[in-house]
Amino acid sequence: MLPTAMHYSHTLLKEVVQPGQTVVDATMGNGFDTELLAALVGDKGQVFAFDVQEQALEVTKNRLAVKHLLAQATLIHRRHEHLGDYVTEPVQAAIFNLGYLPRGNKDIITMPETTQQALNALLPLLAPKGRIVIVCYYGHQGGEAELDTVHRFCAGLPQESYNVLSYQFINQRNQPPILYCIERKKTALTLM
Ligand SMILES: C[S@@+](CC[C@H](N)C(=O)[O-])C[C@H]1O[C@@H](n2cnc3c(N)ncnc32)[C@H](O)[C@@H]1O
Repeated sequence: MLPTAMHYSHTLLKEVVQPGQTVVDATMGNGFDTELLAALVGDKGQVFAFDVQEQALEVTKNRLAVKHLLAQATLIHRRHEHLGDYVTEPVQAAIFNLGYLPRGNKDIITMPETTQQALNALLPLLAPKGRIVIVCYYGHQGGEAELDTVHRFCAGLPQESYNVLSYQFINQRNQPPILYCIERKKTALTLM
């Protein structure tokens, strides 16, 4: 069966992340992506994970503790647009799961301007062959505007330096998520 956007996002991460590398989860939420990334980088690597909700940090911390993955995770209670204050080394992969925390407060959502700021902060850090995966849930109020911002950002990246794809089911009801993946080419001449 064709993978869902969520499953495909994990495949795209697994294909490029190796033990010892640095990665980012820009929207920690319930910690599913943080857990995957922490397992992939191993105890010599580092996951920087961000969320604005204390609840997300608590749930994720417990999830990682059960799997003995806490050592390689830095859980940061701050907005992802400030990620440059914490991450300075090359990033092999990053994931954004946009929207609101499932079963959480639906008023706390990612926003177009700050999502773009976070992407702008991340792009210069992206390692050659590194990937930024963005899963856009856009059924909620304001979601379409964020999808539009993300699409424009991705579509505007120069072909010489980045491969960019989108992945979506086009015959499903209720606005299924759309996935974007930005891959920095090995031969990219300049960092943006
Ligand atoms: C769709 S959920 C993420 C789901 C998560 N990846 C998981 O595995 O459960 C989106 C998350 O983004 C968080 N968020 C919203 N705005 C944010 C911001 N500016 N910086 C960091 N996190 C933010 C929300 O609190 C919410 O937990």
